[in-house]
Amino acid sequence: MKGNELIREGDQCLLNTYARYPILLVRGEGVTVWDSTGREYLDFLAGLAVCNLGHCHPKVTKALTEQANQLIHCSNFYYIGPQVELARRLCEHSFGERVFFCNSGAEAAEGAIKLARKYSKEHHGDGRYEIITMENSFHGRTMGALSATGQKRFHKGFEPLLPGFTHVPFNDLDAVAQAIGPHTCAVMVEPIQGEGGVNLPSPGYLKGLRELCDQTKTLLIYDEVQVGMGRTGKLFAYEHYEAPPHIMTLAKSLANGVPIGAVVTTEEVGGAFAPGNHGTTFGGNPLATAVGCCVVETLVEDGVLENCQEMGEYLLTGLRDLKERYTFITDVRGKGLMCGCELAFEGKEIVERCMERGVLINCTADKILRFLPPLIVTRGEIDRLLATLDAVFAER
Ligand SMILES: Cc1ncc(COP(=O)(O)O)c(C=O)c1O
Repeated sequence: MKGNELIREGDQCLLNTYARYPILLVRGEGVTVWDSTGREYLDFLAGLAVCNLGHCHPKVTKALTEQANQLIHCSNFYYIGPQVELARRLCEHSFGERVFFCNSGAEAAEGAIKLARKYSKEHHGDGRYEIITMENSFHGRTMGALSATGQKRFHKGFEPLLPGFTHVPFNDLDAVAQAIGPHTCAVMVEPIQGEGGVNLPSPGYLKGLRELCDQTKTLLIYDEVQVGMGRTGKLFAYEHYEAPPHIMTLAKSLANGVPIGAVVTTEEVGGAFAPGNHGTTFGGNPLATAVGCCVVETLVEDGVLENCQEMGEYLLTGLRDLKERYTFITDVRGKGLMCGCELAFEGKEIVERCMERGVLINCTADKILRFLPPLIVTRGEIDRLLATLDAVFAER
């Protein structure tokens, strides 16, 4: 079937949950993807912060095919070698001591919410079940993760939400201090808000949250689904801020595109789960975790984090130069290769103009152009993005 026919058929048989662009992507290599007509695009979205090592990285493809030839799936009733190995590596590189594997970011949020409630029940009694999350946060689309998400536009049509979630403004320690009460069991936060608009924490914010949590015996949960696995130039974003959490969720780029999620926690908090409390059929299966092992190793050992730091600075400098020249750019911000460019108007049209010129970018929170390229991106590729933006901005 031709690309156009598939697109038409997709409109007839898929649930209408995405406002898709009429492009059918069929191949990828590094930072480049190709559509069904053979047209080439530079991918500054990386499958939405998923393909951090780029498309079809040879080491990832090798790990995937080798494992596919060995054992794709078996039940968690048995031990799974790559699962144990990936858990060990994640713990080696983080505050973590115990890991639960699942299949997505939303599922990781669900696991974290359940773990926080269970731990608090066991240690503080039945009354502590509430979780404080941030306005403009995003934690996923399942009912628990959706209730945690602090954006009304995602809630609309799905009420009543799960009870037990309070939303306070991001970067406001006093608001959290006031919200923590006798029913609070956890505070859940993205170290840098992604979908909410690439919002960075103010100096001392995460450290302040950790201190507040320690004082009130509240658990601190970081959602590192988007910012984790090297995106900010360190393996985990919290490493920039000297304030580890008690629980961390991961997904997206953990296996560079093979579905996976993880809940990482301490021995003490993890001890609240016993056999039968939580589980999932596919979570931690040999295929996804074998690729996850390869991803962690490649990020750490192949200079990918260093490239992310260097290219992140280069991209931010280029975006700041554009800001000097175009007054409708109201802010440029980011950390590593998670960068945002805030416009004085809605950015949808800019995204479309860039796509017409062969560059894929994203716009979030209406006005924030978001750049999330693979962490292996080169100066030349960033130059191409900046030249494209310049040309598109100049047309306005
Ligand atoms: C910070 C954050 N948490 C959770 C999620 C949900 O992840 P998933 O789409 O894999 O369920 C996302 C997805 O964009 C996210 O950015």
